Amino acid sequence: MIRKTTLCLALITLMSSLACASPELLEQSKTFFKPIPTTPPQFAGNPATPDKLLLGRMLYFEPRLSASSLISCQTCHNVGLAGADMQETSTGHGWQKGPRNAPTTFNAVFNQAQFWDGRAKDLAEQAKGPVQASVEMNNTPEQVIATLRSLPEYVELFKKAFPKDKEPLTFDNMALAIEDFEATLLTPDSPFDRYLKGDLKALSDTEEEGLELFINKGCVGCHSGTNIGGTGYFPFGVVEKPASDILPLDDTGRFKVTNVAADEYVFRSPSLRNIALTPPYFHSGKVWKLLDSVRIMGSAQLGISLSESDAAQITAFLKTLTGEQPRIEHPVLPPQQDDTPRPVLSTTGS
Ligand code: HEC
Ligand code: HEC
Repeated sequence: MIRKTTLCLALITLMSSLACASPELLEQSKTFFKPIPTTPPQFAGNPATPDKLLLGRMLYFEPRLSASSLISCQTCHNVGLAGADMQETSTGHGWQKGPRNAPTTFNAVFNQAQFWDGRAKDLAEQAKGPVQASVEMNNTPEQVIATLRSLPEYVELFKKAFPKDKEPLTFDNMALAIEDFEATLLTPDSPFDRYLKGDLKALSDTEEEGLELFINKGCVGCHSGTNIGGTGYFPFGVVEKPASDILPLDDTGRFKVTNVAADEYVFRSPSLRNIALTPPYFHSGKVWKLLDSVRIMGSAQLGISLSESDAAQITAFLKTLTGEQPRIEHPVLPPQQDDTPRPVLSTTGS
């Protein structure tokens, strides 16, 4: 510790560089960022109980929530792949391509709103979307309820999870159980979190230099807080519009939600937690290399051309945002019954 500090001081005088284990940089970082907590946040009105968490986990892995009985939340938010699907844009019902890249479900609970355009206020509201989206799971709430009702284990588990409800097995309660389960998908203890908690050695010199650039070049203006993002809406292309393959013209982002001209091509700043594990990047999923996405951010959002070495240092810092991945056991799902609705594979509904 002492040796490293002395070395830093020597380096600072020699090269007038502020990089390397500096307590000041740590203090500055603490004003912008917060570590991922090790225990899930609790929701007022939706207390997590062991029964509800089991139900939520089963529903997350339950392909029979989809019309085809093939697609579950896990299909596009794979818990073995950092909560994402490694596709440019997701593939759903009948092999249809959705318009946007699937963001990770890990730590999503700390985003101020859900989806690239923030159109769902929380995880419970969000969970009802994909089940009904025709390019995703292509189902209806009525059909989902009919499916779950046909499986006695679910009827029992909904009763246990929502003991005060007269009718526990509802579409809304499905979403509430999924919400509580998703809130457990946290990735604490990344090197950067250990650094934020005071371990100056948790980052290498290069990673610290990347952190300093991330702050001083202005990335932190849109990527801060617990999730290093997920907290505000910004145009993609504040200074310079990215090429139209990266920013397709037909997806106007938040404009579709608010209908306000100033919201054209505005997107929620994504969380950068575990970003090294979740390529491809941007809502279009057109950029596969993290380094390339960093350079695009420099020109599009800040109007600067990052040098190869600056971009490499920032990328090294971003890799320190990879936390401990949750280990989720795949649940055993209730066996099919005679009256369980059969899979529908076609896209026309027949
Ligand atoms: C066919 C693939 C697919 C399936 C199935 C799917 N999702 Fe998604 N999910 C996506 C895509 C794509 C987005 C981004 C859509 C957008 O922003 O318009 C998304 C967004 C989300 C988000 C928002 C994350 C953020 O940072 O904004 C959450 C949470 C989420 N999905 C959870 C779920 C849950 C829970 C299920 C199961 C009920 C589910 N998803 C099923 C593809 C899928
Ligand atoms: C003015 C706000 C703003 C600034 C400044 C900014 N970003 Fe972003 N960032 C965004 C938005 C908005 C997106 C989502 C763009 C999209 O796909 O629509 C994004 C996306 C990203 C992504 C891709 C994330 C993913 O999940 O696909 C990375 C990586 C990233 N930013 C890193 C950086 C870095 C590094 C800097 C500094 C060089 C930076 N950002 C500066 C707003 C900003």
